[in-house]
Amino acid sequence: MHVNDFHMINEVREQANVFARILQNRTLIANVAREVSVRNPRYYAIGCGSSYYASIISVFYHEHLFSLDSRAVPSSEFIWYPPSLNPLVLMALSRSGRTSETLEATRRAKKMHISTVAVTADPSNPMGKECDYCLDIGIGEEKSVVMTKSFTASTLVSILLGFELSKLPSANRKEFNDELVQLPTIGDRVIRGVEDQARTTAENMKRLNRFIYLGSGASYGACLEGALKLRETSYTACEVYHIPEIRHGPFALLENDVGVIVIVPDDKTLNQSQMLLKEMASKGATVIPISNVSAITESYKNSIRMPDGIPANLMPLLSVIPMQMVAFYYAVGRGLNPDLPRNLTKFVTTEFDQ
Ligand code: AGP
Repeated sequence: MHVNDFHMINEVREQANVFARILQNRTLIANVAREVSVRNPRYYAIGCGSSYYASIISVFYHEHLFSLDSRAVPSSEFIWYPPSLNPLVLMALSRSGRTSETLEATRRAKKMHISTVAVTADPSNPMGKECDYCLDIGIGEEKSVVMTKSFTASTLVSILLGFELSKLPSANRKEFNDELVQLPTIGDRVIRGVEDQARTTAENMKRLNRFIYLGSGASYGACLEGALKLRETSYTACEVYHIPEIRHGPFALLENDVGVIVIVPDDKTLNQSQMLLKEMASKGATVIPISNVSAITESYKNSIRMPDGIPANLMPLLSVIPMQMVAFYYAVGRGLNPDLPRNLTKFVTTEFDQ
């Protein structure tokens, strides 16, 4: 099978168009935000697997950029440990809108008189129909079992919902908005600029057996997703930590067959990351920085240079793209079919009406 015949890589390459489509249809998001807006609410974002990781990233923006009282929990935890405080708004992220835990969590929320907003690929699915409001992530169909464009799309839609709910001063609103509108163009540059590097990196990763992903802030959520892509498509053991947490125990894992993929943006985490990269390399690990800092990428044979001019706020979302590509090429290089991983289905249904 030729590389271009796999759905996964084609869906990864579609992401700039998806960003453009979402940004063109922001009115609906703004309308929903107006409808669910209440005084002093607390927001919960839920999902399973990739959709939970999308919640983690978007909630980071909600809290740190938009000053919303927002948190992300897996759908099952929302069911088992329901929040007691009101008023609440629940954002439920699910590509399929059929995942048992997420569906059950939204039903519970409705019984608790919590406003529910579905963020999903098909508003006619059960979750889309049952929630009070529904936001279509605008991806059309995603053929691959693993989530790629649906991941970045639901993350973006959920970030935008937080943006519309926020009470940001107009100058900050404008600043963030000016960055957001660049997403399709910059996304396209990322997609074109990193694919060859991701392919080479994946080839060099063949001699490695275990991987660690490190990121900070919203990039931690991006790393959770990057590692999940590698696990799902190539059945490889991966761990994920906030950057400096690697020193607190997982350092013991570092040896010659371990690859460490680190998101290194040009921000306050740079110096600490730079020191860590050196230390990890000195312990025999292969460090693979994904960065827009040339001093970092030029220092390591296996690295992925992100294009210049990426606003810091867009780095976490865009750094998912090279990680998706690395997972794809690593799996294909091992003779696996990343579109149809073993033991996986597009969504999981199980008894979950506890
Ligand atoms: C993604 O690549 C996975 N196959 C899986 O984690 C998925 O995100 C999860 O099962 C949730 O699916 P949903 O978004 O359709 O609810």
